[in-house]
Amino acid sequence: MQHEETIPYLIWDLLITLSATLVALFIPLELVLGVYEHPALVYADGMITLLFFADIFLNFRRPLTIKRRVIRNPRVLARHYLKRWFIIDLLAAIPFSLLFEITPLLLLRLSKLARVMHLMHQWRQSKVHSLAIIRLVSFIFWLGLTAHWLACGWLALRGIPANATRSTSYLGALYWCVTTLTTVGYGDVTPSTPVEMVYTMLVMILGVAVYGYVIGNVANLLTNLDLAKAHYLANMERISTFLNYRHVPLTLQRRVYDYYAYLWENRLGYDESSVLAELPTSLRTEVSLVLKRDFIHKVPFFQGASQDLIRDIALELQPVIFIPRDYVCRAGEIGHQMYFISHGTVEVVSADGETIYATLTDGDFFGEIALLHSQPRTASIRALDYCDLYALNKETFERVLGHYPDFAKHVHEMAQKRRESRQ
Ligand code: CMP
Repeated sequence: MQHEETIPYLIWDLLITLSATLVALFIPLELVLGVYEHPALVYADGMITLLFFADIFLNFRRPLTIKRRVIRNPRVLARHYLKRWFIIDLLAAIPFSLLFEITPLLLLRLSKLARVMHLMHQWRQSKVHSLAIIRLVSFIFWLGLTAHWLACGWLALRGIPANATRSTSYLGALYWCVTTLTTVGYGDVTPSTPVEMVYTMLVMILGVAVYGYVIGNVANLLTNLDLAKAHYLANMERISTFLNYRHVPLTLQRRVYDYYAYLWENRLGYDESSVLAELPTSLRTEVSLVLKRDFIHKVPFFQGASQDLIRDIALELQPVIFIPRDYVCRAGEIGHQMYFISHGTVEVVSADGETIYATLTDGDFFGEIALLHSQPRTASIRALDYCDLYALNKETFERVLGHYPDFAKHVHEMAQKRRESRQ
């Protein structure tokens, strides 16, 4: 599940990330040093509050992409938002600093960071070709914020020294935090009370963990991920290098990435037929039936068909994917395959793409006329959204027609009806 990513939404998300970061920086400072007296910060706080409320308003209507399908229905979107993010966003939007004196309630506004975390996760998913950079930036981001919070915690424990200004005391605390977190520990700033000692030990332990993470993570940025993902990412990198090297236009590159992203999300990047091809025949039929079970349930004709026919066809159906605006076949072409729609919607259009004859969806089939009558395609087929289709080649189609008269009759009737509807 993702939010739709267009440039304006991306800019908005970056703005929200920036605002949440400012909140995460200033609230701990306000609690320990009382920085909100500064008019610029009061003004910024007001602006951020407005932005956060606007974000709530926007999120009620913002289209969502679930499994690459865009959801725009306002009721569904509102229900989804109320169930997941509304409370978090509301807590973050309430301007506690305007309502109360200095109060720990302010910390509730940090809940917006959950949203930032989610956004970063989303960017990692969608910008797979710059994954390493996004991971590095998000690591530096969280490490920086943690160091800041720990420094504020240290200030809260120690208080501001009598002869120091607010900025030098913060700098001193940050210095202590960095030396402790990186486990350098010069020993020039040392804990003096039991609470400070415990706090220092915890920060040191955190430092060791972070150090371990950096060593392990940088070395194994890709191999840490599971094998399927490593394979997928290596493939994407190879393809992206090739497309850039051959100066393929960016819009076309986007479509290629979209295709692989869809393949990844729906099939972990695996090509079903090559996995099946490695299995012995008996297992291949069984696995193939399981993989196509949902699809078979969708095709009305298969409901009443014999198990033999289903087994026969299941093995021969080849999965193919089309992305929005792709042409599955064009009018006038020689047809070698017919198609069943497992998931998605296609339009049957005229050769120039202007006239729409019909819209076909899950469970429908097309492309039978050219095979039955050995004639060129009578119409073009254009994908409206991401389409999972199963293709049946001409030889298998003819063999199945010969063996199963019910299927032959059904296909002939459908072809006849379609031809008549166009006359
Ligand atoms: P074929 O001619 O092989 O390729 C284009 C396909 O579009 C055709 O087979 C039919 O399966 C389908 N088709 C053509 N006309 C219609 C229609 N009026 N309604 C639904 N499908 C159609």
